[in-house]
Amino acid sequence: MHVTGGAGSGTTAAVPTARCDARVSGAGRTIGAVRPGAVYLVGAGPGDPKLITVRGLEVLRASDVVVYDRLAHPALLQEAPHAAERIYAGKRPGHHTLRQEQINTLLIDRARGGATVVRLKGGDPFVFGRGGEECEALRSAGVPFEVVPGVTAAIAVPAYAGIPVTHRRHGSAFAVVTGHVGGNRRGPDWSALARMPVLVVLMGLRALPETCRRLIAHGRDARTPAAVVSLGTTARQITVTGTLGTIAQRARAVALPAPTVCIVGDVARLGQTLRWFAPERHVPEGSPGPSPIWGAPRPPARLDARSDIRTRTRTPASAPAACAARWPDKV
Ligand SMILES: C[S@@+](CC[C@H](N)C(=O)[O-])C[C@H]1O[C@@H](n2cnc3c(N)ncnc32)[C@H](O)[C@@H]1O
Repeated sequence: MHVTGGAGSGTTAAVPTARCDARVSGAGRTIGAVRPGAVYLVGAGPGDPKLITVRGLEVLRASDVVVYDRLAHPALLQEAPHAAERIYAGKRPGHHTLRQEQINTLLIDRARGGATVVRLKGGDPFVFGRGGEECEALRSAGVPFEVVPGVTAAIAVPAYAGIPVTHRRHGSAFAVVTGHVGGNRRGPDWSALARMPVLVVLMGLRALPETCRRLIAHGRDARTPAAVVSLGTTARQITVTGTLGTIAQRARAVALPAPTVCIVGDVARLGQTLRWFAPERHVPEGSPGPSPIWGAPRPPARLDARSDIRTRTRTPASAPAACAARWPDKV
């Protein structure tokens, strides 16, 4: 296993080798087996490449084709066999490299051709990842699949900022919501969300002022602690803390780059004492703007700098480079 540099350590971890033969029979599948002609929806974790699971790494190393998302870390692409085909299928607001139907068709076609296909998704495939839709398409097409859950940004990014999403004294339940409500989709039930002890908002940087405004309008105290964590679990992690009433303005003042996770609730305050991730830069409530620790605000990082379709075959070197542009400082 050669995923290096996780959690800012620069170390190399040892993980069991891939292409394992069937060894242990579990319910529903044979543990350790990696089948040709099947699709594996693998959670890549939120950024730090060491947060992929052992099973995820196992199937990645046995893959013939990797169809990967914008937030998958480049170090993980290097774990696929040299000859594996790497296909970029990233999406960013307003620009989809491949439409969802094209991605579904691609997965089905490659699997029917006999390939072991890994669909590598940021975080967990079933948390705002359209993994459910891809499974439906695969099931309809009769293509076997396996879901390898991942470490979701909704929990891991707060954790890397020292914020537990539940705490017996500060928050007994949490909800994960998207701050991005587009198209014809109905918006969330704001009055229900305003009553949740802890809210974790994904995809919400642009809409943060509106999200905060709505929560306050539906009864949440504007003094509720809040934090926004940018580029979580990476060497460029930044956490801005404040209150529901101040957090949007504070995030904008330091030009916080996406992706971000926003945490609203008393637990958000705990990061100030439970911070443990050394590379993190923190902009606490009360500081006028960018902390002296890191000087003037940087221009927003370009996480989605490359948008070219990568349907090229056998180009193992270039695909990680495209992804590296998205994660500017490797962990
Ligand atoms: C399309 S959703 C996918 C979530 C993913 N399936 C998961 O379980 O983490 C992408 C959102 O996850 C959050 N996110 C993912 N990685 C992140 C990171 N390293 N730091 C902060 N937020 C992150 C951001 O809110 C981003 O807009």
